[in-house]
Amino acid sequence: MQNTHSIILAPSILAGDHADLKSSIQEIEQAGLDWVHLDIMDGHFVPNLSFGPQTVKALRPHSKLFFDVHLMLDNPDKYIDAFLDAGAEQITIHVEPDYPVAETLAYIRSKGCKCGVVLNPDTPAEAAEPYLNNCDIVLLMTVQPGFGGQSFREDVLPKIETISKLRQSRGLNFRLEVDGGIDLSTAGLCTQLGVDTLVAGTAFFKAANRSDFIQEVCSPKA
Ligand code: DX5
Ligand code: ZN
Repeated sequence: MQNTHSIILAPSILAGDHADLKSSIQEIEQAGLDWVHLDIMDGHFVPNLSFGPQTVKALRPHSKLFFDVHLMLDNPDKYIDAFLDAGAEQITIHVEPDYPVAETLAYIRSKGCKCGVVLNPDTPAEAAEPYLNNCDIVLLMTVQPGFGGQSFREDVLPKIETISKLRQSRGLNFRLEVDGGIDLSTAGLCTQLGVDTLVAGTAFFKAANRSDFIQEVCSPKA
């Protein structure tokens, strides 16, 4: 499947040093990357807590990276302004909780910020369809959200292919992102289906050689 965008890697600082996230974010920049993935967890939608808009705002002046903010919240619509103010350049919101998804996407975009929907591993592709025309990115979770360091779920691959084909058949141009268990053995399984945006926490921060890791996962697979 053809990649419509260049493949990029967005390391998740959830796997960074929580006693020094500033250094972790600077390590990403020093590795020559352009994006950082920021995981926001509320302890309700997911069984874990990470960090909030205050931390994102504190990191903003220390980095030129594109802030890809992944909201794992029961009520993300209540926090959009806080993350916009914190310097988010892209905000992705889950379709599973009960809140006005379409209106929230429109609101994010009306503020000049990129937006997208996120699907949990067991959420079918159809759940994204009503929103595809208004997304800059679609994020498919390849682990159950809430923790880093989990194993990649191969049962999500058919859904990745479905969304990738939908993008092509509808002539849409959103980025296709995957998140969870992405490493040297799983990245290619996704990019060969049209994925162009890879989130990696553990595999990036634990990589023996980061530039080899980046080169390998970001090189297109036929
Ligand atoms: C999990 C988060 C992911 C996670 C990825 O809920 O959304 O971004 O940090 O970490 P790894 O790459 O370690 O699976
Ligand atoms: Zn994430």
